[in-house]
Amino acid sequence: MTSQVINTPAVTAKTGSGYENKFQNFSRRVFFSKTGGTLLSASAVALLAGCDTIAATADSGSVQDDVNILNSAIGAELEAIAAYQLGAESGLLSSGVLAVAVKFQGHHKEHADVLASTVVKLGGKAETPKANYNFPVEKLNSEADVLTFAAELEKGAVSAYLGAVPLFTNRDLAKAAASILGDEAMHWAVLRSALGLDPVPVAFMS
Ligand SMILES: [Fe+2]
Repeated sequence: MTSQVINTPAVTAKTGSGYENKFQNFSRRVFFSKTGGTLLSASAVALLAGCDTIAATADSGSVQDDVNILNSAIGAELEAIAAYQLGAESGLLSSGVLAVAVKFQGHHKEHADVLASTVVKLGGKAETPKANYNFPVEKLNSEADVLTFAAELEKGAVSAYLGAVPLFTNRDLAKAAASILGDEAMHWAVLRSALGLDPVPVAFMS
């Protein structure tokens, strides 16, 4: 891929999947900021489920923790959306693969939207897309390159959510994170299949 296209976030470097790194940072932040309270409290879980009443009763400290954690996740989702935008507008994808890429991007938009709406309901300001993302543009010269990049991104998402699930004190939130994890695992499998690879190469994810 040799040029940028309109509506694609500017790409400035080739540092691999920032999505995984973002979530790894997110997981570490969650872990190291865990000082005894519920990190993403019942309030956020309630909001994710559409119940505002419980959220209104949350204390301000837990709400701020919720906003910070949610925004970390939103940032990673926005990066994934940008990555798929890059692939979709690369001109390298056949029509069938393009449709899949757009669909998967839509899933990430759904994730980001529900997380952002939760932040807003909690009184926070939702993370917004960066002007630049560090994607390996120089390495994206074929459909297989794009699929490989996306598959690596999705594998990173699976690993990140897998790491995050046990960090949640609230089991409802762990369930929500596991739900997203399942979606990311399906993305990974489909992309591997499109690459001619075994779509389900392992019995356990890590
Ligand atoms: Fe995904």
